[in-house]
Amino acid sequence: MSHQVLDSNFSLNFVEELFSKTDSFLNGDKSYNFQGKLVASVFFEPSTRTRTSFEIASKRIGCDFVHLNVDSSTSLSKGESDQDTVLNLVSMKPDLLILRHSNFKSLTSALDRISCPIISAGDGKLEHPTQALLDAYTIRHFKKDFKGLRVLLVGDVKNSRVANSNRILLQNLGAEITICCPDIFKPDSKEWENIPHINKLNESIGEFDVIMKLRLQKERLGEERESVSDLRAFVLNSKHFEWAQSEAVFMHPGPKIDGEDFLPEVLSDSRIKILKQVEFGVYLRSALMSLLLEQS
Ligand code: CP
Repeated sequence: MSHQVLDSNFSLNFVEELFSKTDSFLNGDKSYNFQGKLVASVFFEPSTRTRTSFEIASKRIGCDFVHLNVDSSTSLSKGESDQDTVLNLVSMKPDLLILRHSNFKSLTSALDRISCPIISAGDGKLEHPTQALLDAYTIRHFKKDFKGLRVLLVGDVKNSRVANSNRILLQNLGAEITICCPDIFKPDSKEWENIPHINKLNESIGEFDVIMKLRLQKERLGEERESVSDLRAFVLNSKHFEWAQSEAVFMHPGPKIDGEDFLPEVLSDSRIKILKQVEFGVYLRSALMSLLLEQS
């Protein structure tokens, strides 16, 4: 595997190895100990889940963890560039770097100079590889097999890095992706051209094994800003849960916005597995960091 986990083009062998190691951690394997290894993380965008998940995951395998939150307490407020911030952090010799940024491409010359493994914790609207991995792991836990599995992505697909990473990974694993959103929230890149699109959330939800709701990415809107109200028809309510399969799995990468993603009336439905995604994410990130640290 590459020492840079910046996108979701993983080989099937790698995914199998990673999921097997994640299973071990989930089943209580404590044999991995990376005492003396240092994981550094720097997030140029807000986060609750990913940041804490990486911190807990690295501590669970014995690593030390240092986090730099980009806010007014850092020297970025004095004019230091994002590139210099990253380069200074890695000069302190972490064994692994976790990075979230709005535009990895703008950091290319810095990233090319970094010798430790880097894991993307989110790259603008393009990629969120570890979210896709933990989503796939969650789906495998509940559905066992990806072949022919029908997955529906609902909401602001256009601006979602989670949607993009899930499309790449889940299709490679054999799942069939469909998107459900207003026309203006359909991604316009060529990679999405052949993905089936439904522009109404109706009884057809019953045809899908997995339904993944995506929040409106308010911080990334373009021309679709004028059409945000169109998404009101894509909020999951009790009718959708009636139409859905009894064994359907409802997911959301978070943050879930109450009233915009799910109506309160459905939130106690046992088919919603959002907190399982978060729980599994810690084991999966421990497994991913173990693999990278073993190789470095
Ligand atoms: N899923 C996810 O990336 O959530 P955070 O933005 O809270 O990390």
